[in-house]
Amino acid sequence: MSDRVVKYLKEKGFVYPGSAIYGGLANSWDYGPLGAMLKDNIKAAWKNEFITQQANVVQFDSSIILNNKVWETSGHIDKFNDPLIDCKSCKSRFRADHLLEEKGISFKGDDLTDITEKIKSNIECPSCSANDWTDTKQFDLMFRVNSSKTDSAEFNFLRPETAQGIFINYKNLLNTYNFTLPYGVAQIGKAFRNEVTPGNFIFRTKEFEQMELELFCSPSAAEGIFEEYLLKINSFLKRIHLNDEALKSFDVAKDSLAHYSTRTVDYEYNFSFGWGELLGLANRTDFDLTNHSVASGEKVLYNDLKEGTKYVPHVIEASFGVERLLLAIIESSLKMFKTETEDREVLSLPFELSPYKVCVAPLTNKLVDEAEELFSNLTKQDIGAISFETSGSIGKRYRRQDQIGTYFVITYDFDTLEDDSVTIRHRDTMKQDRIKISDIKTYINEQK
Ligand code: GAP
Repeated sequence: MSDRVVKYLKEKGFVYPGSAIYGGLANSWDYGPLGAMLKDNIKAAWKNEFITQQANVVQFDSSIILNNKVWETSGHIDKFNDPLIDCKSCKSRFRADHLLEEKGISFKGDDLTDITEKIKSNIECPSCSANDWTDTKQFDLMFRVNSSKTDSAEFNFLRPETAQGIFINYKNLLNTYNFTLPYGVAQIGKAFRNEVTPGNFIFRTKEFEQMELELFCSPSAAEGIFEEYLLKINSFLKRIHLNDEALKSFDVAKDSLAHYSTRTVDYEYNFSFGWGELLGLANRTDFDLTNHSVASGEKVLYNDLKEGTKYVPHVIEASFGVERLLLAIIESSLKMFKTETEDREVLSLPFELSPYKVCVAPLTNKLVDEAEELFSNLTKQDIGAISFETSGSIGKRYRRQDQIGTYFVITYDFDTLEDDSVTIRHRDTMKQDRIKISDIKTYINEQK
């Protein structure tokens, strides 16, 4: 991970190491004011693109802890695990499949004996070079939580994806809204995975946030909707100004597909530590609804009057990670401009992602009261978050606001007392205009 990005995010108060006053907790992070605001803005942009702008998509908010049968039925209890192998000599633990993949050795993914034999005969421990391996074991990725006061053997799971909370409510939604397909249900919320190899800063953590959209549709419409959503995802990635040159998407190889998918397109970003998955679009077919229907007895056959057939709806799923998007956005937007006099660091976020849209600053502290009145007036105009700065010279304030992505800085000066006008400066161009206070909102809407 690039030291510059990590240092920047920590110093500016986007991200803090978790539980730091007690020596920390590995791979856990807390989001400071700017990080929390940026996350909110990412979620708002996603909601706007994938929910609000679509007449047939609604929002959902399910529990994090679900009945254990959900995870038995979804295949997570049996299949949501990673094969691990330990070096007996130095006690290091590795993803067994990754060891073989890195050496280009093919293996049968579901055959632990095959994996162990191939590692034992071909691979030395990357940490200590010994060849003294345990057998390969499956490692369950779901977190267990004790759910009984008396019996420690009674447990539930923390959800590893938000999607299942939607699938088990499909019938509730159909009964309430009597929708016609295609119909989308979206959810933003925490997911938990006991990752074997967390790391790369906020890229892979045990607790993270997903934004998932499940599009229920007829089997015959599924492929078309898949293609349509590839285009929507591309347009969203443009909207949030991700650097195209650092983006790629590809069809996941058949033998690497998740157990529920017949086709997945993964989008990867070239982070400073290398390529990493940002999001995926998957064709989950009727896998989830059929399995839940068989296991629970709830009938989910949809009577399609347009197509004149009955079927279990298929699902196209778009699944995004909030923290990974945040990291990719920062890597795409954090720029250094070198001038003769200074190095200017600018977080060139699009307006809708900027934590603060505007900063109001009095030219001198003699004008604090008047500037504060302007600040208070602007906060009521639905412009977005506005900050108020009084410390340092104007030049320093510009630099500080540029660094945290504030789109405009408004300076209240002595002339403002006479002409009701202010100077407004644009972050990216540094262009300054003198405008009437009454025109600020219109100016921002035109220039953002
Ligand atoms: N419902 C489908 C699903 O969960 P996934 O590819 O396992 O698919 C979707 O996860 C997205 O969630 C990933 O593309 C990534 O952005 C995010 N994600 C998954 N595991 C993560 C982790 N350990 N830390 C941070 N983000 C993660």
